[in-house]
Amino acid sequence: MPTSNSTTPPSFETILSPALLPLYNLQGKTVVIIDILRATSSICVGFHSGVTLFHPVAHPEQATALENEGFIGAAERNGQKLNGFMLGNSPFDYLSNNLQDKKVAITTTNGTRCLHLSYEADEIIIGSFLNLNAVVNHCKNTKRDVIAFCAGWKDKFNLEDTLFAGALAKRLSSDFVIECDSTLAAIDLYNTAKDDLAGYIKKASHAQRFERLGLEHDIDFCMQNSIYDFVPKMVGDNLVLS
Ligand code: MLT
Repeated sequence: MPTSNSTTPPSFETILSPALLPLYNLQGKTVVIIDILRATSSICVGFHSGVTLFHPVAHPEQATALENEGFIGAAERNGQKLNGFMLGNSPFDYLSNNLQDKKVAITTTNGTRCLHLSYEADEIIIGSFLNLNAVVNHCKNTKRDVIAFCAGWKDKFNLEDTLFAGALAKRLSSDFVIECDSTLAAIDLYNTAKDDLAGYIKKASHAQRFERLGLEHDIDFCMQNSIYDFVPKMVGDNLVLS
């Protein structure tokens, strides 16, 4: 049930790192999982390519075990696809393979952990620049309190996830109450970068990591705006298209 009653607008809060999660109450709220580079972006690409569900797991061994049950395994650590897996965490992994009607068991460095951490939420959805408009409309229609949950990098703050939180909050600012300094800072960060998001993010630590790994193209792809009109959500232990 939405926590805000019909007269008071819902609230918008931002968790800048999983380390700050204990300070927030997720109950009754919609949690938007944000891992722009690249889990939530790649998950959206997978659904676009016909994946029927993503099953997030904590350990690569779990993904391997599920391959025996008809899942395709996807595993990434420190930005690189793990040996022995068909898929990693690049959006291009999900554009180039025949994924129509496939189930994917996925584990990534940061993003899948946030899905598991958000179990107390009323609703858990996937946010990326690729489906920003759809997430905005979803949050406006459901009228629940929203928490933007930035995956960061190993509990550290990162720029790209906070940029998205700011973009989402700015788009919802006329319909939501924003009394959260993390959100206000995220909006200011977005206002700083909004005219050239991809250019701005090139200085981010994750972007520098990607340049060392030859993954620069992933950044430009993940920073595209609203190319998909759907919102993946957790139903039970799986991400599906609602
Ligand atoms: C993640 O998705 O957990 C990280 O952002 C790792 C990556 O895709 O490079």
